[in-house]
Amino acid sequence: MNRDAQFVVVANRLPVDRVVADDGSVDWRTSPGGLVTALEPVMRKQGGAWIGWHGAPDEELDPFDHDGYQIVPIPLSQQEFEEYYEGFSNATLWPLYHDTVAFPEFHREWWDAYVEVNRRFAERTAEVAAEGATVWIQDYQLQLVPQLLREMRPDLKIGFFLHIPFPPIEIFLQLPWREQIIQGLLGADLVGFQVPGAASNFRRLVRKRTRLKLDRDRVLLPGHACNVKAYPISIDTEGFIEMAQDPDVVAESDALLEELGHPKVVLLGVDRLDYTKGLRQRVRAIGELFEEGRLDPADVVFMQIATPSRERVDEYRRLRDDIDQLVGRINSEVGGIGRPPIVYRHASFPRTTMAAMYRIADVMVVTPLADGMNLVAKEYVACHPNTSGALVLSEFAGAAQELRQAYLVNPYDLNGLKESIMRAVTDPRIVRQRRMRALKKQVLANTIDSWADSFLNDLRELTS
Ligand code: ADP
Ligand code: F6P
Repeated sequence: MNRDAQFVVVANRLPVDRVVADDGSVDWRTSPGGLVTALEPVMRKQGGAWIGWHGAPDEELDPFDHDGYQIVPIPLSQQEFEEYYEGFSNATLWPLYHDTVAFPEFHREWWDAYVEVNRRFAERTAEVAAEGATVWIQDYQLQLVPQLLREMRPDLKIGFFLHIPFPPIEIFLQLPWREQIIQGLLGADLVGFQVPGAASNFRRLVRKRTRLKLDRDRVLLPGHACNVKAYPISIDTEGFIEMAQDPDVVAESDALLEELGHPKVVLLGVDRLDYTKGLRQRVRAIGELFEEGRLDPADVVFMQIATPSRERVDEYRRLRDDIDQLVGRINSEVGGIGRPPIVYRHASFPRTTMAAMYRIADVMVVTPLADGMNLVAKEYVACHPNTSGALVLSEFAGAAQELRQAYLVNPYDLNGLKESIMRAVTDPRIVRQRRMRALKKQVLANTIDSWADSFLNDLRELTS
């Protein structure tokens, strides 16, 4: 590929995953997670190149066109998949950056693989980006790329956005390779975080651990300045609203209600099956409400949809077993012979089916213990067709800083969580309507377009 892309997104994941079935047939599927949901509409609009891994180890693929932009696959060997992706990214950085809700593991071989793969991403980006192009690097898997790329291509405008929380300095400093990560990020012209607290954690870290001068949001380095700011990410709000109003989606939601036996109240949870999402707490709280008779299983159903995620990493296996057991126990002890009180699916569904579920959910329950933003909360607000829905939302999701009219909860406080769920179920319609109206206004005001525009405009202004 020539150096001809004026706009380049660099992310660990491509928007599509290559899936090879047992019979050898190949299929491409939408990749999991909020990063892809958010960036896909940006790329469709901007054009350019998306550099990333296609989800299958030990396979080298050529670049190809997709939805009006170029896809540039980066290969990972099986060993790199285990050490860079499952290891350093998802068993070291992921728990460390999410408040150590699980113990981070530190292994030197994992770090070596992280450096090696970050270098590969940087080299490929240097080959693909046109002179003076804008390059936007995404998320914790690629924190060394900004500095590596600047060394290779000082002509580029380099932005970096972290989709997950950035921890307080006291936690970050556990990382044996902390200095390298700080220097890696500072290679960017602009580093964006989800919320102001994360940006100030990073600035404080730079102040404490480097000799560099700070001028308000700018870190002054020899040769360039690195700006550090918050840009709360969002969704393609109009796109979700339209999808949820599509007659096929409306029909699918009607069919779903029919299948559930037209319960009076539908509670819904939608997540990647991840220990940061507070699933244990959510299932326990709702299970207790059923057991105590405060929710009647004849009238109420709790539907939990969990996308399989990082399935070979130990903490994820444990979580899967725990949720299977918890749901099994509650369903065997509560309710009649018919539909179980908890309908649990461990699977990924098409976006249209997600929209159909959001339509019928009277109460959406989003309870992460730590979360950069949480797009599910915003998708629900956009898709729910009238203002009678209710959103129960953890204070520890970035989204809680914008969606103030949600029923905000501390998911560690089980009784508090139960009370908030009950309020969301029983509050008078007029109260729920007032809250939902405010939430809808917020999700319409901050969309994925406004997020991308404000980041990219800042990046272009800062580097012009
Ligand atoms: P994260 O990035 O940590 O996964 P987000 O809430 O920000 O969390 O984004 C999750 C994205 O994945 C949303 O766009 C949501 O619609 C999608 N998603 C979650 N669960 C499923 C599922 N079971 N099937 C399909 N998409 C899902
Ligand atoms: O920002 C959340 C995120 O970790 C993305 O970086 C990632 O692509 C997504 O969730 C899904 O996780 P994974 O790529 O490990 O399946």
